[in-house]
Amino acid sequence: TLNIIAALAFGYLLGSIPFGLLITRAAGLGDVRNIGSGNIGATNVLRTGRKSLAALTLLLDALKGTAAALIAGRFGLEAGMAAGFAAFIGHIFPVWLGFKGGKGVATYIGVLLGLAWQAALVFAGVWIVVALLTRYSSLSALVATIAVPVFLWATGSTEIAAVLVVMSVIAWIKHRANIARLLAGTESRIGSKG
Ligand code: G3P
Repeated sequence: TLNIIAALAFGYLLGSIPFGLLITRAAGLGDVRNIGSGNIGATNVLRTGRKSLAALTLLLDALKGTAAALIAGRFGLEAGMAAGFAAFIGHIFPVWLGFKGGKGVATYIGVLLGLAWQAALVFAGVWIVVALLTRYSSLSALVATIAVPVFLWATGSTEIAAVLVVMSVIAWIKHRANIARLLAGTESRIGSKG
């Protein structure tokens, strides 16, 4: 139990580092929350027009989830799952930003990479296919977060699947404004500044 509590705290602290906000601020772009969707994630950083900063945000927001899952995972699968889940929660509800963080997509794939890398490939594959077909970052993530628990379940990783189902539900809830825009046909596409 002490291990799990430590894993949760460690994961949360790592996950709550808002890389998108820090990177854009360091680049002199001001507060990324004032542009586009107002989100702190890589998709919105891309709306500043700085592709390399968006890539760096994606990488670091993902890696904090991977690091949490892998480091805590040395103490067992349960600790790894706890830390990964907590990193995802930390990204979405960071105490430093009044619990108003990101939507968790990059950290979701990073956690997966640490827990079940094959499922991270499934996520990436589905995301890329939907993005190529539609140019919607949000829709790509929404479809990928359905595919992942199904894949994990089908391949017998039922414990990890259970954690990922919860993460997918939270990701969907965080995307409710995106879902409304998708349904209304007003969601901005990758590559547009909107
Ligand atoms: O990763 C978040 C993405 O799915 C949507 O981002 O900025 O378009 O709300 P955004």
